[in-house]
Amino acid sequence: ELGQVAQTIVDKIPLAGGIVEFKVRAPMVARSAKAGQFVRVLAWDDGELIPLTLADWDAEEGTIDLVIQGMGTSTLLMNKMAIGDAFAGIAGPLGQASELHKYGPDQTVVFTAGGVGLPPVYPIARAHLELGNHVTLIAGFRSKDFLFWTGEDERMGKLKAKWGDQLDVIYATNDGTFGLKGFVTTPLEEMLKNDKTSKGRRIAEVITIGPPIMMRVVSDLTKPYGVKTVASLNSIMVDATGMCGACMVPVMIDGKLVRKHACIDGPEIDAHIIDWDKFLPRFGAFKTQEQRSKEAHGL
Ligand code: FES
Repeated sequence: ELGQVAQTIVDKIPLAGGIVEFKVRAPMVARSAKAGQFVRVLAWDDGELIPLTLADWDAEEGTIDLVIQGMGTSTLLMNKMAIGDAFAGIAGPLGQASELHKYGPDQTVVFTAGGVGLPPVYPIARAHLELGNHVTLIAGFRSKDFLFWTGEDERMGKLKAKWGDQLDVIYATNDGTFGLKGFVTTPLEEMLKNDKTSKGRRIAEVITIGPPIMMRVVSDLTKPYGVKTVASLNSIMVDATGMCGACMVPVMIDGKLVRKHACIDGPEIDAHIIDWDKFLPRFGAFKTQEQRSKEAHGL
């Protein structure tokens, strides 16, 4: 069993559309966290275990930042918690850190972040920037009502101000109310077709984090171009120790179906080897129970 230590919420920022950012005291996690890793949160004693990829951390302050979208019973109730409340336990950092490679000045690392995929993308993009890589970050939101972090004095604005030309940020909304009209795949497709970005850089790799269906579409898009693509999968996990099998990801390696554990082999997995046809239906598997549970809690 992983260590579970009660952790106090020291700040809470409602972001948009049922999305909340928490700053939580978790000095042990903050001290050893690396980009791409996640924590397993137990909100209250008999609660569900929720995996959350770190949005940020501060080793000196001893805090970690988590962004939670209220969707199921647990996340909706978690988002009602206040500053001074404590989560019953946070275990981590868990999973493999992102693999970082140094690329040339004519290349760019492209991120496609869908909705609450942006918080987990943020530290990974920053790690690439710190390594000297050029980054193209495409962030997609449903509409302007779901936007967060995009203001000048918010995270993305500050990141852009700090890194200047080393970072290109492209926003897209499904309805065109902010940034481009379309999906994260709209600008990505253009880059792939032109074999480069509008600034003339070639895509070194694509990292996609967001709704599973979006990650699949990104994976299908890049595959014929042979562009390395990594998906960060942490949607269904229970023990996060490789024992329970809840996080199984079917992948094809040398023509053989192999099972990977998102919790210990991931959360990042080569998107092109994932058997998405077998993998995606898992996300619908608990819909009915979730709905019943929400109704029972009056949510
Ligand atoms: Fe149980 Fe990965 S979450 S094996």
